[in-house]
Amino acid sequence: MSNRMWGGRFETGPAAIMEEINASIDFDRKLYAQDIRGSKAHAAMLAEKGVISADDAAKIAEGLDAIKAEIDAGTFTFSRSLEDVHMNIEARLRELIGPAAGRLHTARSRNDQVAVDIKLWVRDTLDHIEGQLTELMVALVDKAEAHIATVMPGFTHLQSAQPVTFGHHLMAYVEMLSRDRGRIRDARARLNECPLGAAALAGTSFPIDRHRTAEALGFARPTANSLDSVSDRDFALEAMSAAAICAVHLSRFAEEIVIWSTVQFGFIRLSDAFSTGSSIMPQKRNPDAAELVRAKTGRVIGDLNALLVVMKGLPLTYQKDMQEDKEAIFDSLETLSLVLAATTGMVRDMKPDVERMRASAGGGFATATDLADWLVRVLGIPFRDAHHVTGRIVAIAAERGITLDEVPLADMQAVHSGITDAVFDVLSVEKSVASRVSHGGTAPENVRREVARWRRELASS
Ligand code: ARG
Repeated sequence: MSNRMWGGRFETGPAAIMEEINASIDFDRKLYAQDIRGSKAHAAMLAEKGVISADDAAKIAEGLDAIKAEIDAGTFTFSRSLEDVHMNIEARLRELIGPAAGRLHTARSRNDQVAVDIKLWVRDTLDHIEGQLTELMVALVDKAEAHIATVMPGFTHLQSAQPVTFGHHLMAYVEMLSRDRGRIRDARARLNECPLGAAALAGTSFPIDRHRTAEALGFARPTANSLDSVSDRDFALEAMSAAAICAVHLSRFAEEIVIWSTVQFGFIRLSDAFSTGSSIMPQKRNPDAAELVRAKTGRVIGDLNALLVVMKGLPLTYQKDMQEDKEAIFDSLETLSLVLAATTGMVRDMKPDVERMRASAGGGFATATDLADWLVRVLGIPFRDAHHVTGRIVAIAAERGITLDEVPLADMQAVHSGITDAVFDVLSVEKSVASRVSHGGTAPENVRREVARWRRELASS
C-alpha cells in the first residue's frame, strides 16, 4: 500500500529496507508534546484567519489533546510505516475526528513543522539546563562558604605550586559555569524566532498570521526568511557547542574529584551514595560518578561533531539528511543534563579532609614564592636575586627533609645575612594565603567577598 500522507503518485509501498532507513519515529517520538503544541497554535491561527472553520479547529484541538493524553499514558501505538512523529499524530487524529484532521496541514509542511518542534524542544531543554546550572553554582557557593579559609595546595603542572584556599578553588568553577550559563542564555535568545509558516520552503499563498503563531508559542518573532527557516540548524549547533564547553568544564572538575579522592591525595571523601565498590578488592571505593561525568563529555563533544558534519555540505533548503540531527541533539543536551545533576550531587556529598589538605599545602616548599617576595619587599633586593637566595634555602630544607618554616634562622642568614626572624611571618601556609589579597587572589577575605557577591547574583538571576 502506498503512503496515505504523501503516496498519491505512488503505486506500491516502500521496500522494507527503505522503511528502515527512512523512519525516524523510534527517536523523534520524543517531540510529541512540542509537535502537538505547534499544531494547536497553527490550527487556532488558521481558524482566526478564516482558513479553516472554527468548528474544525475545535475538533482538531480536542483530538490533539486526546492524543497527548494517550502518549503521556503510554497507550498510543506508534507505527514505523507512518515514518515520523508528525504523521503518526496526524493519522491518529484522522481516526479520532475524521476528515477535519486533513485540514490541519493547510499552509504548513513537515519541513517547518519539524523545525518548530525541534526548536521548541531545544528551548525547553535549555531552560531546564539553565536551572540546573544555577543549582550547581549554588551548591559550589555553599561548599566554598564552608571552606573560605581551608588551605590546600594550588597546582600548576599538577605539581604543588602555591597554597590556595579550597573555597577559592571551588569558586573558580562558579566563574566557569556562569560563562556556560551565559552561553546557554545567548543561544536561547538567538534561537527564539518561529519558523512555523515558512511551509515547505517558499512560504504560502494562504493568508496566515505568522506573528500570531510565533506569539502563541512564546517566540519573540517569526523568522524572516522562509528558505533559512526550514534549513537552519545552527540554533542546535550553538546549543550543542555551549553544551560541549560546559561538559568539558564538568569533566575537568570530575578529574579533580577522581584525583582528590585517591588514597594518595585523600583530600575529599565521597559517601557511599556516590561511590562503588570493587567485586574483588574489598578496600576499594571507586568514584564512578566522577569518572562517568568525565567520560560522557566525550559523547557531548561527539554529538556536536556529528551534526556539524551532517550539515557541512547541505545546499538550501531542507534535505532529508537533517533528520539525522535529532539523536545528536537529544543525546547532547540530555547527557549534559545528567552530568550536571550528578556533579551537583557530588558537590553536596563531598567531605573535604581539612587536615590532609593543610598538611599537603605545606609540602613541596609551597611558600617559596612568599619567601622570595619577602626578600624583595623587606630587604629591597631584586626579584631575580631573591629567587636565587630562596632556591638555596629550599635546597637546605630539601636536604634535611624539613619544611621552609622549619629551617633555622641562622642557616637562612648564612645564605643571606639580612634575613631576620620576621621572615617566619610569611612562611606558614595560612600567612601565605592571607597575603594574596590582590583582586581575584586566594585570600580568605577575598573569597568571603566573592561568596557574598555570588549569593546576591544567584538570588537575582
Ligand atoms: N522526519 C522528518 C525529519 O525529521 C520530518 C521532515 C520531513 N520532510 C520531508 N520533506 N520529507 O526531518
